[in-house]
Amino acid sequence: MSEITRRKFLGASLIGGATILAGGLPRLVSATERSTSSFTIGGDLNVNRLGFGAMRLTGEGIWGWPPDRENAKKVLKRALDLGVNLIDTADAYGPEVSELLIAEALHPYPKGLVIATKGGLTRPGPGQWVPDCRPQHLTEAIDKSLKRLKVDRIDVYQLHTVDRHVPIEESLGAIKAARDAGKIRHVGLSNVDVKEIERARKVVPIVSIQNRYNISDRDSEDVLKYCEKEKMGFLPWAPIGGSGHGALSRSNSLEEEAKRRNVTSVQLGLAWLLWKSPVMLPIPGTSKIEHLEQNMAAAKIQLSDDEWKKIESARA
Ligand SMILES: NC(=O)c1ccc[n+]([C@@H]2O[C@H](COP(=O)([O-])OP(=O)(O)OC[C@H]3O[C@@H](n4cnc5c(N)ncnc54)[C@H](OP(=O)(O)O)[C@@H]3O)[C@@H](O)[C@H]2O)c1
Repeated sequence: MSEITRRKFLGASLIGGATILAGGLPRLVSATERSTSSFTIGGDLNVNRLGFGAMRLTGEGIWGWPPDRENAKKVLKRALDLGVNLIDTADAYGPEVSELLIAEALHPYPKGLVIATKGGLTRPGPGQWVPDCRPQHLTEAIDKSLKRLKVDRIDVYQLHTVDRHVPIEESLGAIKAARDAGKIRHVGLSNVDVKEIERARKVVPIVSIQNRYNISDRDSEDVLKYCEKEKMGFLPWAPIGGSGHGALSRSNSLEEEAKRRNVTSVQLGLAWLLWKSPVMLPIPGTSKIEHLEQNMAAAKIQLSDDEWKKIESARA
């Protein structure tokens, strides 16, 4: 991390940290300590575990351009200032808009930035998501993502979903061919169960899984455990409960616990994820700089194992 970036990060630490300190509880970790909370994807892509999800930068219904395009680009730049070096996106966000915005805001990309995109979902209209994981579609989608992102090789390409009309082996076959051609560095999966992961791994090495997971929704616990065992990254989507961060803000026990500690329930939920597993790579999404700063400050909340266990059991 460059000196200027570190200074900016520490500046942001104080924004979030002031309230955290006022609570007298979590100790602030320094930038150096924080860098130990990293994870290496696929054996060679070292990332800070708190990433950024770029889905919320698009228009209403994850459709079209955002009302304030310049603000969306500022959010992306600020994320990097704050130490983010893992950005999650997909061709389906917008569609196309999220990938285009990332390139507009950040290209030429700084060394070490990892962009993980996805393919396999199409968008007939706002709020609509239709799987298409046929090999032909994926082959074309990969080439289009390369162009939009302005890269020669995609760092992590994730199969967005499993298409019930197409065996996962066939979808992965197209992604493997693109990997063999040098268009993709690593392959990930999204919205899968353990059996599907095992089938996919017979076709091509898999480095990461992206499933819905947060303190209020732990249906993918078995997949998380599998990732830990196999040293694969786990990117929980909806890490703070998704749209309107509904699930977390409606959680009274989490809200009370957060108040007591002078942090927000969103911050507590994110910090819990980071504590929960060393392979956890949360990708909270926001369209607002203020929220981004709050989310990044969550990495500094440090509680004892006993305290976290109490918090998570209140949520179970
Ligand atoms: N693989 C998949 O199928 C899949 C599905 C969904 C999402 N994803 C990925 O996962 C990422 C995260 O998922 P997500 O966006 O659905 O859920 P999320 O990150 O849990 O929540 C995002 C929502 O929370 C709000 N928010 C963010 N920070 C906040 C804060 N500090 N205080 C209050 N509200 C806050 C955002 O609104 P504001 O804009 O107002 O901050 C937004 O509505 C996406 O960006 C995308 O990359 C993947």
